[in-house]
Amino acid sequence: MRIVRTRSELRAALGPYRSGATVGLVPTMGAYHAGHLALFHAARAECDVVVASLFVNPAQFAESADLSGYPRDEERDVRLAEGAGLDLLFVPPEEEIYPAGFETWVDVTELGAQLEGEHRPGHFRGVATVCLKLFNLVQPRLAYFGQKDAQQVAVLRRMIRDLDLELSLRVVPTVRDADGLALSSRNALLSPAERERALALPRALATRDPDAARAALDGLDVDYVEVVELDPPVLAAAVRVGSTRLIDNVVLKEEPR
Ligand code: PAJ
Repeated sequence: MRIVRTRSELRAALGPYRSGATVGLVPTMGAYHAGHLALFHAARAECDVVVASLFVNPAQFAESADLSGYPRDEERDVRLAEGAGLDLLFVPPEEEIYPAGFETWVDVTELGAQLEGEHRPGHFRGVATVCLKLFNLVQPRLAYFGQKDAQQVAVLRRMIRDLDLELSLRVVPTVRDADGLALSSRNALLSPAERERALALPRALATRDPDAARAALDGLDVDYVEVVELDPPVLAAAVRVGSTRLIDNVVLKEEPR
């Protein structure tokens, strides 16, 4: 696996694969867990060249404490990425993605303003902008995302459609711990007692019923628990446990895409 840190190194490394090879991209913010690894493995299974990006994107964090507290361990991530058989890991410094004078943003106005967008203003603008930049730099045929962030997938699909981008998204099912908690880099921030309380989230969603889920989350600090008519429809929720915000969803019915 090669590690590249600049856009020019990335372009040069991908040059030989521009004609014919299937390039797959897995955008990430690091602190890898089995959810990220599932994306890497899915990409490895169907692409000739697998590229991942590791960039904690400041533009998608509404709160600076959330950004500064985001777990980071590049050395470990590099080891795990290598073990998953990636070809290229793009680890840019911030100024490589947002050089001085950067002022162009992608806003998915309606979809990006609901739910997560309502509670994290500017979040999806940051996600859409960084993903569009990564799509332009890597020019992947396929890009891999987790169902865990169902609204992120919906926002990116809309951007791809609206801006006539030529790639397809692959959506990988949510990977959970044995106790049901969806894997998340933020789980590392939970104390044992908080983690115990956090288990109410997967249990609530497992009811697949918004009223039952709302009741099961009673006593927790709930941002929302709602049926969302995405493709496929999900029951989605966001809760705060201590200072950590967790999101999760369950698919209500599979629809052909
Ligand atoms: P990050 O939180 O690092 O997640 C990277 C990818 O892993 C996302 O597509 C996410 O949905 C997926 N993922 C996270 N937890 C998962 C789980 N338990 N099971 C399956 N997939 C899981 O999402 C982001 O980064 C950023 O918003 C990004 C797209 C990289 C843009 O900055």
